[in-house]
Amino acid sequence: MRFPWKNELVADDRVKRVGVSNFDVPLLRRSMELCATPVITNQVHYNLLHREPETNGMLDFCQREGVILTAYSPLKNDVLTHPVVARIAAHHGVTPAQIAINWLVRQPYVITIPKSSDIEHAQENLDALQVNLSDDDVAQLNRIG
Ligand SMILES: NC(=O)c1ccc[n+]([C@@H]2O[C@H](COP(=O)([O-])OP(=O)(O)OC[C@H]3O[C@@H](n4cnc5c(N)ncnc54)[C@H](OP(=O)(O)O)[C@@H]3O)[C@@H](O)[C@H]2O)c1
Repeated sequence: MRFPWKNELVADDRVKRVGVSNFDVPLLRRSMELCATPVITNQVHYNLLHREPETNGMLDFCQREGVILTAYSPLKNDVLTHPVVARIAAHHGVTPAQIAINWLVRQPYVITIPKSSDIEHAQENLDALQVNLSDDDVAQLNRIG
């Protein structure tokens, strides 16, 4: 891991914050030891139907250590066509994408980066922050992973 090089970029003011991607817990811990500034995020694959960050300890680690977990591919893995997601979306009068995004970002230290080339989808994804999932909705969504 070439952290001395990254530390130089920060020291030279060419990089403001350091983040990593697809690191497991031991690698993230090591990067935090080597990096002269806080490692602010680890970008990993995480969505309603891909729950690896929960099973491999990454979500717990990030929440405990104050590292942002950036969830990539939040709408992949057939999340948008899952019947439970569709039912909860219909109940709230929102879209499955908004349910999938809101479920992620309601968790402490989790943010997400949905990608869209469609301006309406992009606005819809931003509006996902306004959805109010009930405890029962969340319990049902937690079980589908
Ligand atoms: N670090 C890594 O190893 C890594 C790996 C994979 C991805 N990423 C990054 O993660 C970001 C997103 O990941 P991704 O593109 O794999 O997955 P994603 O954002 O979950 O899915 C993108 C797909 O969802 C569609 N979509 C977006 N908003 C929608 C909406 N509201 N309703 C219906 N469909 C919608 C998009 O189509 P439209 O364009 O038609 O909206 C596109 O086909 C990207 O910036 C990517 O670079 C990082």
